[in-house]
Amino acid sequence: MTVANEDLINAATQARRNAYCPFSNYRVGAALVDDRGHLHVGCNVENAAYPLGSCAEAAAIAAMVQQGGKRIVRIAVVGGTGDIGPCTPCGGCRQRIHEFADDETVILAIDDSGEWQEYSIGELLPASFHLP
Ligand code: THU
Repeated sequence: MTVANEDLINAATQARRNAYCPFSNYRVGAALVDDRGHLHVGCNVENAAYPLGSCAEAAAIAAMVQQGGKRIVRIAVVGGTGDIGPCTPCGGCRQRIHEFADDETVILAIDDSGEWQEYSIGELLPASFHLP
């Protein structure tokens, strides 16, 4: 099964609506397609003890792993307003995506204005860390 970019972006946009972000007020939704063509979504979930908050990508990856998905084929991240541009994955999430991806795995970053950017994880996380 192939999931169109539009469907992936719609799923991330839907997940973003449920973001729990009373501290930053910065909503993020993520949707990914796994190696079996299944879709997994997540949103950011913050906490009054700030460092306990988690990112949308982390939630989508956890959902994939829990459902038996092994690899990320493509991931869309929706966040950011038109003036500051799309939410690209934070450093920690780049490493999280990398764990289940190839250098060519595509990341779509979309903001409120609908503007989107396309990257590969190799581009966003060059010279990445691997265990020997
Ligand atoms: N956030 C994400 O969900 N993903 C990212 O890649 C960057 C940041 C969330 C974390 C926090 O809840 C809010 O955005 C502001 O940093």
